[in-house]
Amino acid sequence: MTQTPSPAPSPAPSPARPPLDIATDEFAALLRVVGAEAVRHLERLDSAPIRPATTGEESLRRFAGPAPEQGLGASALDGLRQVAEHSRVGNGRFFGYVMGSGEPVAALGDFFASVLNQNATAWRSGPATAVIERTVIGWLAEALGCSGFSGTLTSGGSLANLMGLAMAREAKAPANESGSAGGVVYASTETHMSMGKAVALLGLGRHNLRLIPADADLRLDPAALRAAIAADRAAGRTPIAVVANGGTIVSGAVDPIAAIVEVARAEDLWVHVDGAYGVAAALVEPELFEGLADVDSLSLDAHKWLYQPLDCSVLLYRDPAAARRAFSLTDDYAASLSADPVEGQVFFEETIELSRRVRALKLWLSLRYHGFAAFRESIAGNIGHARLLARLVEAEPTLERVAPGPLSAVCFRWVGGDPSEADEVNAAILERVNARGRVYLSNATVHGRFVLRACVTNHRTTDADVRAVVEEVLAAAPQASA
Ligand SMILES: Cc1ncc(COP(=O)(O)O)c(C=O)c1O
Repeated sequence: MTQTPSPAPSPAPSPARPPLDIATDEFAALLRVVGAEAVRHLERLDSAPIRPATTGEESLRRFAGPAPEQGLGASALDGLRQVAEHSRVGNGRFFGYVMGSGEPVAALGDFFASVLNQNATAWRSGPATAVIERTVIGWLAEALGCSGFSGTLTSGGSLANLMGLAMAREAKAPANESGSAGGVVYASTETHMSMGKAVALLGLGRHNLRLIPADADLRLDPAALRAAIAADRAAGRTPIAVVANGGTIVSGAVDPIAAIVEVARAEDLWVHVDGAYGVAAALVEPELFEGLADVDSLSLDAHKWLYQPLDCSVLLYRDPAAARRAFSLTDDYAASLSADPVEGQVFFEETIELSRRVRALKLWLSLRYHGFAAFRESIAGNIGHARLLARLVEAEPTLERVAPGPLSAVCFRWVGGDPSEADEVNAAILERVNARGRVYLSNATVHGRFVLRACVTNHRTTDADVRAVVEEVLAAAPQASA
């Protein structure tokens, strides 16, 4: 007798929708709310205080509530306006640090990338966006005069610089069976802190970042570099790389790249350019960056002077094989099975990251929308703003420009009082200027002195915004309050 199989238990009735799923019309309604809040934020950029009038305590009270066990639905979005109102605004009068301006078309690209939710790790995980990343890299390499360079996008200059030095280490002093071979990296004293972190993380030891005193113009002196390399070789150490600044964080000084490349080639060293802040200026003043096409790797933060929303950094390199020597380690499950040059393409063999967000889409959209010409015009405009500020400072008897700078950063200080108190007085001026809220400046140390620093990397900045810097500093200076 054959047994009839008992019927399979019927599945539990499913809820109308999985709990996290929302209908597309609901999504569209949410999008309208977010869109309206985004537009409102952009509309109030000029009128809102640069630094929101909030305190740590108030921001905790507003944004650090208990975890919601039950969802609030659409009213969860109510908080967005408060988030905007308690945020720094990126208008043209924010001159602190090196802040890009969050170009809005690029922000839409970022949003769309999140909706698509591709993994920018390989062509198979996001065919369109993988090709877009390669395309954008090619456009930028060509625009910088480095045609033929390959590259990847990453989170920021710190990571791009770390990756550049990781490639240098693998190229010039790869670890052997007994461990890391070690090595010395050279840079000027004006070099960004990310380089110290990079040598530490690479296990070279911070003491093996040889910081060579910058010259009077805050640039690396090739003769001093040559001497430092010779001293290290004489002491039995292994020089591996030189970092050339393509715009120092403080003054925007650009190291003499061509001369540094010449020293490095004679010594068989890798050359990495830290162009996180400044190398975008090569789009308009390539002569400042002579030798760039001969370096081994370079970083460029698109979220700085290409005005992109965070995060978006570019690492370019001459030799993709060098990137693979540093980063290729492929588990069986991830290996590409395609021999097609496009379809088999994997990014994770050339970067630290495996899963990666699509950073290329915003850049692609922004560049296509505005065109390279508009970016060139904005960068040239920002350099012009810095030159205007330098002239205004030089025309004021109580102000002194402290460092030359070919890019868009201006360092200066108020010198209308007792020179022995200048550092303290300028620190107090900075505090008052930022508290007044019309412009925002940051501080730096140049030749051991406290200075005020304005850096223009915002596509919205106007000449009037730049004039406001001098007006505000003079208004905050001691004689104005006396
Ligand atoms: C010259 C330079 N290098 C590296 C960095 C680090 O970049 P990120 O903040 O994107 O990590 C900065 C940041 O300001 C910089 O100005």
